[in-house]
Amino acid sequence: MGEAIGIEDALSRILRDYREMIPVGTSSLKNMMDDAFRDEKGEVFGMEDIRFQSLFYDKVINDPTIQKYPPLLRTSKDYVQALMRCVEDRHEELHEELIYHYLDLLNRMKSSAGLPSQMAAAMKEDGISAVDCYKTYQMEGEAKEDLYTIGYATTFNSVGMTTWEAGFLLAEYALDHKEQFRGKRILELGSGLGITCAVICRHLHPLQYIASDYTHTIIRNLHRNLIINDVDVGEENFGEEEWAEEGKYFFGVDEDDVKRSILVKSLDWGQISRKTLEQHSALYSPVECIVAADVLYDPDLTELFLTVLGFFFELPGERVAYVAQTMRNPSTMRHFEEKAKELSMHVEVVATEAQVGRRFRYQPTTDLAIFLIIRRDATRET
Ligand SMILES: C[S@@+](CC[C@H](N)C(=O)[O-])C[C@H]1O[C@@H](n2cnc3c(N)ncnc32)[C@H](O)[C@@H]1O
Repeated sequence: MGEAIGIEDALSRILRDYREMIPVGTSSLKNMMDDAFRDEKGEVFGMEDIRFQSLFYDKVINDPTIQKYPPLLRTSKDYVQALMRCVEDRHEELHEELIYHYLDLLNRMKSSAGLPSQMAAAMKEDGISAVDCYKTYQMEGEAKEDLYTIGYATTFNSVGMTTWEAGFLLAEYALDHKEQFRGKRILELGSGLGITCAVICRHLHPLQYIASDYTHTIIRNLHRNLIINDVDVGEENFGEEEWAEEGKYFFGVDEDDVKRSILVKSLDWGQISRKTLEQHSALYSPVECIVAADVLYDPDLTELFLTVLGFFFELPGERVAYVAQTMRNPSTMRHFEEKAKELSMHVEVVATEAQVGRRFRYQPTTDLAIFLIIRRDATRET
């Protein structure tokens, strides 16, 4: 056993893991089981001690963010169970509140058994996502406790329902290069759950930020996540629906959209045409900076994405694009470079993950990079 860890510090590490739904097996709770803890009076005790259990109950289980935006029931059960097992293995007495909380979790899990498939069916029918858990990520560096809560629908299996590493990286890159984003008109393609948008809007105050994605479910979820994170996106402002096929919608542009500072739009790369963008040029021509994270994960989609980017580059005005990407497949990345060349785009890597200041916790399994994309003729001017 090493030196005793300050109890406040230990609990905040455990809370951070719990909010981010880190599996208990790799969590600080598990890693610190053999450690000793010291309270403010200098008293030292182990995890089995009633003082630890009681503080865990007050500070972790009853954390206001956890109460408002709970993780998955199973994660909650795993955390409480791990602590209870540790106490029992050491033949100490369990804190009564912990037992009641555990029983309550078991009951809630039982009563929600079978719900996922019912929820999935309901969602399919009306295209609305049913969020069943939240992950709250802590960003380091800018403010003392900078939390981002993302609602997840685990029953809905879609790439738009995961927060991808490239999304965090893009946000971190923007914070490293504030001058390129602050006060700018930004359009994000494929915003997913909205982490990049939430960080940039909270910290860099763009003049306008248009977050976009495609299906109805993803768009609604994106909008709700931005509201949860105090991003002033206002009421649903997707505009008038102009098409609705196979759950994909295009929401037209309202006159007021041009004046709004943060908005959510549906921009389906498979549906958008040069003509549609020209029709809505009042909103899209002023865009100075296009951002996207993890959108080059498949050759067909990469081609579609670049074609749409090309439409934006053809609108009046100058603009640059930053794409953060996890490089999973060399052939898709080659395809990306070839297609970009064909479309007269200049591509360069402006940062790899090692060159970006880390503020979120994620463990990339493959390389990540930020690409700058500009129109080839624009390089002569710069
Ligand atoms: C891998 S996810 C990345 C999401 C988010 N940028 C992030 O980093 O967490 C790819 C995103 O592209 C969106 N997408 C895929 N095909 C699309 C299309 N045809 N039009 C618009 N968005 C699309 C998905 O819905 C999803 O949100």
